[in-house]
Amino acid sequence: MQISFFNPTRLVFGKGKLKELGSYAKEYGKKALIVYGGGSIKKNGVFDSAIASLKEAGIEYVECGGIEPNPKIDSVRRGIDLIRKNGCDLIIAIGGGSAMDCSKAIGAGALYDGDPWDMIFHGQENVYIPTRCMPIITVPTLAATGSEMNPGAVISNSETHEKSFVQTDALFPKVAVVDPTLTITVPKNQTGYGVCDIIVHLTESYFNGVDGTPIQDDFALATIKNCMQYGLKAYQDGSDLEAREQVQWSSILALNGFVNCGTNGGFPVHMIEHTVSGIYDITHAAGLAIINPSWMRFAITHGGNVDKFARFASYLFGIQNDGDKVKTALAGVDEYEKFLKKIGCPVRFSELDIDESNYEKIADVTLKVIHDGEGKLPARPSLSKADIMNILK
Ligand code: NZQ
Ligand code: ZN
Repeated sequence: MQISFFNPTRLVFGKGKLKELGSYAKEYGKKALIVYGGGSIKKNGVFDSAIASLKEAGIEYVECGGIEPNPKIDSVRRGIDLIRKNGCDLIIAIGGGSAMDCSKAIGAGALYDGDPWDMIFHGQENVYIPTRCMPIITVPTLAATGSEMNPGAVISNSETHEKSFVQTDALFPKVAVVDPTLTITVPKNQTGYGVCDIIVHLTESYFNGVDGTPIQDDFALATIKNCMQYGLKAYQDGSDLEAREQVQWSSILALNGFVNCGTNGGFPVHMIEHTVSGIYDITHAAGLAIINPSWMRFAITHGGNVDKFARFASYLFGIQNDGDKVKTALAGVDEYEKFLKKIGCPVRFSELDIDESNYEKIADVTLKVIHDGEGKLPARPSLSKADIMNILK
């Protein structure tokens, strides 16, 4: 097992922590660009509370609202302009993964002379890999991506319909101020999608990683179990703060690099889904909910690690099937799919009115973004174009 672990983001987690935003912000700047989405934070009072804390700390601010779900490179360009025009020295992202990801691309793009699309991974390499970024503080209002405490950003290009990522150490936020009470107003559908996203972050590493990582495997399964238990509660009763708190903690653990360090697996379901939401602009986790069970069935029957799939089935759903591992593994996927339906996720493309016409394009674009030396998508088993189309079908 080889491990290289690095995460410099300070995590401040707990009910009421939003009040402390100003005290952390003043360590990093005097004038903040506040990056947020379509306005939920203005309706639910989060914006006012954040501003009150910033004012108390003597921080000025400029607003950069209207960041769309699946944030577009044009929003990144707009944010960079605002920083340059107003002399901001700090970025505060308040929102879901979209606002947080956009703020990372803005923060790196503001210190780069070229166009920010240069840093987005498309076609095996970035034109520019950011080595510098403005200080960023994240305030997540939705539990899903883990963007608050990781160095990744996923950005879309509406002209080319590409959606891809940049991930590099310079993009780690300085501080993540995580107050689970902020997620109480997340609507039912987004709550379910968030739970699905968290689970898939964990399954990607668990199923695709190298062998010989028993601690990481146990961490992953325990975190999935917790997320399913409390995720269902949060879905059924959005005001259940204990459930919201647990789901938010699992979202951070799922993708801050700790639970899966050393597993070194590909993220095939994410890679395929990013292409799908690049073309159709669907919610990220709605795409994951459709692709993940299908990918699992494919992996179980095409050389994936059946032991791990069988353990997933027995640990999470109590399935044994008299030691028949393949049968157990496949029954586990059926139960997992039932769970996804229970939390309101679609499980077939037809539910989103997506037909087969673009399956070949989805496979081609995905493999253009990322492939191993043999033109296959890194995964366990690695996926050819035909395999990807098979999974989509
Ligand atoms: O835009 P507003 O008005 O804020 O409404 C948002 C949006 O409509 C709403 N929302 C968020 N918090 C709320 C709330 N509504 C009421 N009350 C609240 N407290 O939820 C909707 C979705 O928001 P969005 O930020 O788009 O969702 P999410 O957090 O799921 O982020 C999705 C984006 O992150 C990328 C995805 O591809 C997608 O572009 N990802 C980023 C990752 C990363 N940086 O590590 C990893 C992920 O795998 C993912 O790819
Ligand atoms: Zn995800």
